Amino acid sequence: MEKKFKRILVTTALPYANGPVHIGHLAGVYVPADIYTRYQRLKGRDVIFIGGSDEHGVPITLKARKEGVSPQDIVDRYHALIKDSFEEFGISFDIYSRTTSKIHEELASNFFRTLYDKGVFIEKESEQYYDEEAQQFLADRYITGTCPHCGNEHAYGDQCEACGISLNATDLINPKSAISGSTPVMKKTKHWYLPLDRYEEFLRQWILKEHTEWKPNVYGQCKSWLDMGLQPRAVSRDLDWGIPVPVEGAKGKVLYVWFDAPIGYISNTKELLPDTWERYWKDPETKLVHFIGKDNIVFHCIVFPIMLKAEGSYILPENVPANEFLNLEGNKISTSRNWAVWLHEYLKEFPGKQDVLRYALTANAPETKDNDFTWKDFQARNNNELVAILGNFINRSLVLTHKYFDGKVPVCGELTDYDKETLREFSDIKTRLENNIENYRFRDALKEAMNLARIGNKYLADTEPWKLVKKDISRVATILNFALQISANLAIAFEPFLPFAAQKIRKMLGMGTPEWNQLGRVDILAPHACLAQPELLFEKIGDDLIAAQIQKLNDTKVANEKANYTPEPIAPTIEYDDFGKLDIRVGKVLECKKLPKADKLLQFKIDDGLGGRTIVSGIAKQYRPEDLVGKQVCFVANLAPRRLKGVESQGMILSAEDADGRVVVITPQQDVTPGSCVK
Ligand code: MF3
Ligand code: ZN
Repeated sequence: MEKKFKRILVTTALPYANGPVHIGHLAGVYVPADIYTRYQRLKGRDVIFIGGSDEHGVPITLKARKEGVSPQDIVDRYHALIKDSFEEFGISFDIYSRTTSKIHEELASNFFRTLYDKGVFIEKESEQYYDEEAQQFLADRYITGTCPHCGNEHAYGDQCEACGISLNATDLINPKSAISGSTPVMKKTKHWYLPLDRYEEFLRQWILKEHTEWKPNVYGQCKSWLDMGLQPRAVSRDLDWGIPVPVEGAKGKVLYVWFDAPIGYISNTKELLPDTWERYWKDPETKLVHFIGKDNIVFHCIVFPIMLKAEGSYILPENVPANEFLNLEGNKISTSRNWAVWLHEYLKEFPGKQDVLRYALTANAPETKDNDFTWKDFQARNNNELVAILGNFINRSLVLTHKYFDGKVPVCGELTDYDKETLREFSDIKTRLENNIENYRFRDALKEAMNLARIGNKYLADTEPWKLVKKDISRVATILNFALQISANLAIAFEPFLPFAAQKIRKMLGMGTPEWNQLGRVDILAPHACLAQPELLFEKIGDDLIAAQIQKLNDTKVANEKANYTPEPIAPTIEYDDFGKLDIRVGKVLECKKLPKADKLLQFKIDDGLGGRTIVSGIAKQYRPEDLVGKQVCFVANLAPRRLKGVESQGMILSAEDADGRVVVITPQQDVTPGSCVK
């Protein structure tokens, strides 16, 4: 049985105020949360929508250090920029505050103190990395080194961004201080730990038994954390930026950013509703929903609920509809590599086109798996869907009404069978949207809304009212009334998704506040009501604009490659005789296949001009076998044979590797006779 709630509390992950926000933020968290909230408001529910900036933590102090300014300067700058971007995109927060607010510092501090007084924490001394040059402990991102899991040399002390695994600083191979670059030493320090392991039973019951309806990606991640076994986590750090640990003998220690940040949801609610905030956080009839990205799942499903549970007076989230990641043109979005579409830049480059991005990101949202944003898809969504279907239908309905009925809603006569059939096709639009939105399936919901515009277009195309003007004007009146009613339905259905366009449609149709319950009905607009002049909802986006965006990304790529490229040192000098010992030849690939049980190896049959030979080469990650057959390659012909996975390799295929680890096979610039020597 579905639980009934009296009110809804929607939160969105608090973005770090150490940089601007990009399309990944919007697609993963803020647009879905905004759709959900706008929909709940339309339904007349008691809902509040909480956001804010995450202003503590190492990413911020690192950025400040790099720029030679104070952490406060950094968060002031980016908080303002982020807040502004969200506002421009119509993200309808009831409050967007920050974790450096007084209210928050007090509430987070008290929260810690309550747990401390209840004896929840374990107090423990341990050895942690310390930078002797900078005279500072190195928490989280102050340490970099090689990931023990995937070998990425730029992993952080809390996480490896290449493989996503979460780490402890002491897991890193070859650790280095991000401040001085020196190798840190170990030094004793005291911290407070939240004993996650003591809450395993509670979590198993609450998540694995009572919340089987959570999205499979979320449920699955929780289950695997629980199956691996939880461990106590330090909730304090040796840093000078953050909320001081409010107990005796904690000088120089602050709350861990992941302890204070989620409490920000509570503080921001308190700032919004100083008198009634507790109703939203403590009454079990409130439905709490956290919108986040997948990298935040453990904090919102495991750590924060344990904090709330341990405190004792708070409710727990009812759902945590985390999204997967949005990639950009085939690559992971990355702030440090500038591989992103920044919202403040988009707003300048595509003025007035907020809804287009909202649409493209929702239509392609990473709800169940990682997805890719491409500018071509963005253009196609705009031109083929927003312009050609939605914009076109609304425009035709209005223009025809202005032409034949002086801009007044014509009177509806009797509906024909065809009209009734069309009505049947969308009369359940309300339930369909509700089912999808209530279950966090925003892509499907958007499809349903767009489908209604398709139905409208088809209706006009089939009934061809412009051909009936002379013969049967009252039938034309019915058809246009019907088309306008569909338009009014669209104004309501699209309000959560495309708030700017929906508002324009309502204005053109002379509608007041939209009412969700009118969806599926054809008596929304009263006959004789006056319509405003039609204005364009969407316009075509030309190839030039798209090409410019793609060029911009290519420029970023080139700049990154240059910045990253550190040539390998030249090997020690050799004599000509040494070089002469190498017998390098050109051969033609006759066959190529994957070697079973070896994910890196390809097995080649090479025409070497001498009857053929077998070579095994470790390039299976870079090449598909079928793409190499028929190609000419260079190989070392006199290398001693070696057995690899049971196959004898008679030589080595030459390839070049660039700074990014991209591997390309060396081929002669023109075909030559197989067996030719390379000198
Ligand atoms: N700042 C974190 C991030 O960007 C998210 C914090 S969500 C919070 O990953 F609620 F816990 F604040
Ligand atoms: Zn890794």
